Amino acid sequence: MQIRDFRLERYFGQYEFSVRHQLSPSDCESCTISELLEVAGQSQDSLLSLRLGYTETQGDPVLREAIAEHYEHCCADDVVVTNAPQEAIFLTMQAVLKPGDRVVVQTPCYQSLLEVAHSMGCNVVQWPAQETASGWQFDLDGLPQLLDGAQLLVLNAPHNPTGYQPSESERKHIAEIAQVAGTRLFSDEMYRGLEHDPTEALQPEAARSERAISLWGGSKSFGLPGLRIGWLVCRDHAVIDEVIRLKDYTTMCSSGPGEFLMLAGLKASQTLFARNRALITENEARVRAFANARADDYTWRAPAAGPVGLLEVRNGLATELCDQLRCEADILAVPSTLFDMPDKHVRIGLGRAGVAKTMDQWEAWETRRRK
Ligand SMILES: Cc1ncc(COP(=O)(O)O)c(C=O)c1O
Repeated sequence: MQIRDFRLERYFGQYEFSVRHQLSPSDCESCTISELLEVAGQSQDSLLSLRLGYTETQGDPVLREAIAEHYEHCCADDVVVTNAPQEAIFLTMQAVLKPGDRVVVQTPCYQSLLEVAHSMGCNVVQWPAQETASGWQFDLDGLPQLLDGAQLLVLNAPHNPTGYQPSESERKHIAEIAQVAGTRLFSDEMYRGLEHDPTEALQPEAARSERAISLWGGSKSFGLPGLRIGWLVCRDHAVIDEVIRLKDYTTMCSSGPGEFLMLAGLKASQTLFARNRALITENEARVRAFANARADDYTWRAPAAGPVGLLEVRNGLATELCDQLRCEADILAVPSTLFDMPDKHVRIGLGRAGVAKTMDQWEAWETRRRK
């Protein structure tokens, strides 16, 4: 298999565990196993008595049942649990695409959303985000022409890295355009639950349409990335069956403790989401104050939803700033070039507890360098 480097993951692989302050994570604050069990109202014994045997390839039926409750019109048979959302992306692309297929992807994007299709010999076409005075947008009028017989339209909202979030009516319109074009939707909903106003949550695409595939998992809104549990939901069982068939060649079944604790996460989901949303709101205010005080240097475009947004660097290159922050202030920041964007934005992650401290560190560095 020929596949290009996953640039963001290589960058994190190099620096994440050696640089002290994290400015750009996309996940939310994690918790300990005992904290998770406590908010889920479960005893520690329930985990300690778990047998470490193989699990069902499609995923624990009780876990699938709990997942399906988050999707109108869907049932446990419409769900496949995977080892990490990343595996779900890989298996979906392998299941529904073949070389030469046209695949339209919202960009910038989490790289695997286009890279896996590209590595399979698909014709990957970008649907680029546009930065406007009122935030990041995608051109809906041009979408029918762009689809042009595409097999798959890959969407992501709340969006990484721009924080773009369509309204429910815009999303419905996108789904209708795809349906007219005969294009299946693959909807990455990893940041679902982190809408700043929960009433603005989108209907998951798997609930909206029988052919659409929805992706979610524990890593972001639940703050449980270490569980490495993701899942796909789709009412088209040809897709589900093919994903299960292919999973025999990747991980065959998911981690038992991961599935067990993910079930606890689902029980506690409303508590976890509310806690993470509150953190995002608090951290966003801190980042906004920082940028407003330095309006000549930075423009902050707060995310419409989700834990990440882009800060524009007005004077100089984002890559240079990130290098300086890392080497001189012990801060790890992600430049937009890692998303194949122009060298002018830094991704800011708002979901972790340490953001205020990181911003203090950044401010102190700014003061030092101006002396
Ligand atoms: C949009 C999106 N999809 C999928 C993933 C993959 O999640 P994980 O790294 O937990 O597999 C990420 C991770 O950052 C993401 O941002």
